Amino acid sequence: VLTRIDHVGIAVRDLDRAVELYERRLGVRVTAREKVVTEGVEVAMIPLGESRVELLSPLGADSPLTKFLEQRGEALHHVAYHTADVDAALTVARSAGAEVATDRSRPGAHGTRIGFIHPKSLCGVLTELVQDDGQPRS
Ligand code: CO
Repeated sequence: VLTRIDHVGIAVRDLDRAVELYERRLGVRVTAREKVVTEGVEVAMIPLGESRVELLSPLGADSPLTKFLEQRGEALHHVAYHTADVDAALTVARSAGAEVATDRSRPGAHGTRIGFIHPKSLCGVLTELVQDDGQPRS
């Protein structure tokens, strides 16, 4: 069961510049930054009520995000839905014919577990599933 939109991910080339732009032009505040080495990205989180905006930039040329930015430029990158059980949601999606990036959830930023569903399975939108692991939300 998906309970809400956890965050939307926005691909940016320069994280410092993006943070400055979003804070100044929208009046929002980044409260946490983290390098997620396993995903090849650095993220900056902007909390907004029950949801967040996640600005993400590649950590290196071999990051999957580098290819995305070359092909699409800065753009909406993914939509993330909150669920109590990422593995169960991945199983439902897979059994319904969706292509999942990995069969099992894996660690994400800020003490979460995450999974991804391929954009071609959901009308062109890379879809992330997110589950808290009980740590405080940033
Ligand atoms: Co995300």
